[in-house]
Amino acid sequence: MANMHSPSETWANELVRVNLEERSYSINIGPGQLEHLPSGLSECVPKCRHGVIVFDENVRGIAERTQNLLTGVGFRSTMIDVPSGESSKCISSIERLWCRMLADHTDRGSVVLAVGGGVVGDLAGFAAAGFARGIPLVQIPTTLLSQVDSSVGGKTGINLPGAKNIVGAFWQPSLVVVDTQSLATLPAREYVSGLAEVVKYGVILLPEFLAYLEQNVAAILSKQPAALSHIIAESCRAKAAVVQQDERETTGLRAILNYGHTFAHALESVCGYGTLFHGEAVSIGMHMAANLAQLMGRVDEDFVRRQQTLLEQLQLPTKSPHADPEELWLAMQHDKKVEHGALRFILPSRIGHVELVPGVAKGLATAAIQAAR
Ligand code: GLY
Repeated sequence: MANMHSPSETWANELVRVNLEERSYSINIGPGQLEHLPSGLSECVPKCRHGVIVFDENVRGIAERTQNLLTGVGFRSTMIDVPSGESSKCISSIERLWCRMLADHTDRGSVVLAVGGGVVGDLAGFAAAGFARGIPLVQIPTTLLSQVDSSVGGKTGINLPGAKNIVGAFWQPSLVVVDTQSLATLPAREYVSGLAEVVKYGVILLPEFLAYLEQNVAAILSKQPAALSHIIAESCRAKAAVVQQDERETTGLRAILNYGHTFAHALESVCGYGTLFHGEAVSIGMHMAANLAQLMGRVDEDFVRRQQTLLEQLQLPTKSPHADPEELWLAMQHDKKVEHGALRFILPSRIGHVELVPGVAKGLATAAIQAAR
């Protein structure tokens, strides 16, 4: 991926720091950022001379450019492709990765580079976390969803049958490179799906950012370079602020990142994984959560309408006509936020503020779902 951008676009570059003591790292964001990978590596992993590039077969071109950049600075490289889709996050994939890494003499002088979306990031991240009890990881996320969420914060892992993300590790990357040019070829539906998580950060933490999103819908939908870098950087800053305070999800703060996700995960499992994109389910889930907050008297109708209008202007769904409230309620009982059998929801009380609310009655939750049909 050649850097074909004019100097005037350098203002579209953003740097976000995640401060976690010795596990701190940078997120470099902007068009053509991949070209700066060699200098990033020499700063962050100066002892490494071998790169294991784990990539989604859909972004082979970006993986090959990554390999060329490594070769240019004297790195040996190993290329491991991963079939697209959630089914790659499984035990046989991780076994294949570890065996390939071993066969290709991977050691503590190696760095794993994850090139792709959330599936590759989670899988390659777990491979890095487990191999030789942990080798460095660089995330090169190529989808909007992974750029604003899964590549940041160190959650890695795989699924077991019937249990998503149940085996994994917290393993922070040494560097995250977000080359916004990778979004140019991302299918429109996938790009828009990622915007749901961007809106989420505005609603849960950043009132001014929410207003920015409302005022810049056209620039965002047309992927205007400065708007892209700004929305990704603000999202990463918000996520970093939360992760810095609750890296391992022990205080409950990190759970606020799951606003809308209790409904969303249930929707995904009821509709069949892959039918709804994750971000689409999150968008509908946020609308359901806002409905629930209104039913509980926590927010007014204006809040619900404001969030819904923005999501819809960004071409995201907010309704799920086929969602059966009873079926969703049952599916929600598997949520990780179930504690001693009682469901807890992340609910807003105003723009920029959400709380973990325990003991929500079934009748209220099903009414909130009904209002989003
Ligand atoms: N995606 C939620 C988290 O990283 O905690």
